[in-house]
Amino acid sequence: MIRVENVIKRFGGLYAVNGATLEIAKGSITGLIGPNGAGKTTLFNIIAGAFPPTSGRIFLDGGDITGLKPHELFQKGLLRTFQIAHEFATLTVRENLMMVPGPQAGESLISAWFRPAEVRAEEARIRARAEEIIEFLNLGHVADELAGNLSGGQKKLLELGRTMMVDAKVVFLDEVGAGVNRTLLQTIADAILRLNRERGYTFCVIEHDMDFIAKLCDPVIVMAEGAVLTKGTVEAVLANEQVIEAYLGTGLKNKPAPDEAAAADPTPSGEATP
Ligand SMILES: Nc1ncnc2c1ncn2[C@@H]1O[C@H](COP(=O)(O)OP(=O)(O)OP(=O)(O)O)[C@@H](O)[C@H]1O
Ligand SMILES: [Mg+2]
Repeated sequence: MIRVENVIKRFGGLYAVNGATLEIAKGSITGLIGPNGAGKTTLFNIIAGAFPPTSGRIFLDGGDITGLKPHELFQKGLLRTFQIAHEFATLTVRENLMMVPGPQAGESLISAWFRPAEVRAEEARIRARAEEIIEFLNLGHVADELAGNLSGGQKKLLELGRTMMVDAKVVFLDEVGAGVNRTLLQTIADAILRLNRERGYTFCVIEHDMDFIAKLCDPVIVMAEGAVLTKGTVEAVLANEQVIEAYLGTGLKNKPAPDEAAAADPTPSGEATP
């Protein structure tokens, strides 16, 4: 679905992304991990159109999307979650969901003037969708709360909810789990899984929490120093010597629980390590 071809991004003398090539398969929840400064966020920014690469190309379903602006990518169903913008902090959760742009009849002044019934029907449809999302994400108790008053984790849920107002094809999530408590993290993980299974969303997820990655992602792509180190199941990549070396000094947060890690143990049971 997404193909990144030899992407380079230079900031002055620093190569933040240095020849990254990777693919994200349609229907997958692909993890993107790697030590701090590996270039993960920069690569997301390039894919989502925040800025163009210094060189290299990005393809969506075979079409070249390199350098397209975020709103053009949005129309093609490629979304990344952003922090709730300042101006949205003074709107309620429900209003935030209803503000997501779409092919809405109500947006056109002409249809508002000549076809008010159509506009009302469209608004009712948007409202119904917002209600569905509020329920899906367990945000009912804060639906009328101002977005600015939400907890960090609830804001993350709202960001995810905003991607659900449109029919996204592929959603990029950068550290949705950061600073989120275990219960909310589970809610976010469940929402991602359901969107993937029930709505066919493809996800690419950057996350340092390996429990979260292990629960959701297959495959996992590992980046280090601006390039792709390896790709495979979470067990395989975490057992990879180069990956272990790349993480030395930074450490892995929340290694998978023992049962999940069992398959990753490079030492066959019963064999003593020297
Ligand atoms: N706008 C910028 N100007 C200059 N350097 C930048 C800029 N953005 C990122 N960098 C540098 O590029 C490198 C890659 O940063 P990036 O944020 O992509 O890493 P990351 O893999 O997302 O790390 P983390 O896991 O810590 O979020 C870092 O050395 C960073 O300092
Ligand atoms: Mg980052």
